[in-house]
Amino acid sequence: MKFLITSAFCFTLSIFLIGAQAKVPVDEQFRVVNQGGYTDYNTIEYNADVRGYQPFNDDFRLCFYNTTPNAYTLALRMGNRAKESFLRWIWEANRGSPVKESSTLTFGEDGNLVLAEADGRLVWQTDTANKGAVGIKILENGNMVIYDNKGKFLWQSFDSPTDTLLIGQSLKRNGRNKLVSRKSRSVNTNGPYSLVLEAKKLVLYYTTNKTPKPIAYYSYEFFSKITQLQSITFQTVEDIFDTTWGLYMEGVDSGSKFNVSTTLSGPKHNVTLSFIRLESDGNVRVWSYSSAATSSAWDVTYTAFSNDDPDGLTDGNDECRIPERCLNFGLCKGGQCNACPSDKGLLGWDETCKTPSLSSCDPKTFHYFKIEGADSFMTKYNGGSSATEKACGDKCTRDCKCLGFFYNRKSSRCWLGYELKTLTRTGDSSLVAYVKAPNANKK
Ligand SMILES: *[C@@H]1O[C@H](CO)[C@@H](O)[C@H](O)[C@H]1NC(C)=O
Ligand SMILES: *[C@@H]1O[C@H](CO)[C@@H](O)[C@H](O)[C@H]1NC(C)=O
Repeated sequence: MKFLITSAFCFTLSIFLIGAQAKVPVDEQFRVVNQGGYTDYNTIEYNADVRGYQPFNDDFRLCFYNTTPNAYTLALRMGNRAKESFLRWIWEANRGSPVKESSTLTFGEDGNLVLAEADGRLVWQTDTANKGAVGIKILENGNMVIYDNKGKFLWQSFDSPTDTLLIGQSLKRNGRNKLVSRKSRSVNTNGPYSLVLEAKKLVLYYTTNKTPKPIAYYSYEFFSKITQLQSITFQTVEDIFDTTWGLYMEGVDSGSKFNVSTTLSGPKHNVTLSFIRLESDGNVRVWSYSSAATSSAWDVTYTAFSNDDPDGLTDGNDECRIPERCLNFGLCKGGQCNACPSDKGLLGWDETCKTPSLSSCDPKTFHYFKIEGADSFMTKYNGGSSATEKACGDKCTRDCKCLGFFYNRKSSRCWLGYELKTLTRTGDSSLVAYVKAPNANKK
């Protein structure tokens, strides 16, 4: 009798424990070792080598890729392998913390997805251990989710964008609020550009250690007064009247019953499989996938800075407005870096073009040379200060870190340049740039 009671009690207790803590069924668990041959044979973005694993669906797959030896990123790629299309990267787990050969990816009984080095050192995880996960999958829209037995998402890749948003993915004020560019096609660390969701706007910034705050170089316009943005979501909608597909950013504003939006473009074909990305060159592009479109299956359906309008008749928003378009220094027109400004006038441009090196901050050791009709990426979205042309120059002369200054003679506004980088050549002679140059040594 006593024995019976005890075993019945144990039985109830174990049922209770199982009920409270659902586990990942064995056939949903996996553990892969990052080694062996490369598995995706299509052309792959950044010239990466790829090892593909589960989970995957027709258009998305979880992979390890590397662009430099023995430094792997765990990432999701997009593009249909069966259709031999180009494959592109749309999400990543470990930017700046690459893993080595023989690292492991484990989705075990406890429901945590864990990336670790071969020696067991943990590099990245979804932090979903013992929360009731029963599986992991990639949805049709490219969102990778870990879910419980009620279908609720315990973790989703959509909550941790790096430089890319898929359709339906958001930036949030109380979550991940920005995209950050990668350093270059081959180097996967943070680059200098970011797209930031602020209370009243969506802004592109250039970060440099020469200025205390990042410098805005573009800002999206909304067709409505905004009080307090909560989130912004990349969306598309089909216009049944003219059969275009609108690509736009949809903002939820706490002060308004209606959403605000900014239209990006209106492509002619189905762009449900698209992503918007802040790329390593500082431009923002939308890439749309359709196996019916072109042989590579990809189209660029939006660019923030476009050179299609070489005369700058619209708002002159070509690639010359991107801070490092001409690398360290250069005069740019229609998206092309075509002169290296110097004391001796405009010289031919190449990647060695840089601002003159100064030996000292003493005003007796330098002078300025002037470029008429030159503008800077920073003038449009940063107010500058009100000053006379002479006062503007005096300010720069007294400031050791100032490399030169920009002046608008119509509005009498002044901007000091701690980074000069790319100057835009305009036809407007009221815009002038002055650059500090060392005085020649008198022998
Ligand atoms: C506002 O935008 C969000 C995000 O795109 C969307 O989920 C929601 O349905 C929209 N609300 C309205 C009223 O359109
Ligand atoms: C657009 O493309 C998506 C993804 O391929 C597909 O699911 C959807 O049915 C398409 N919509 C239309 C109206 O063709």
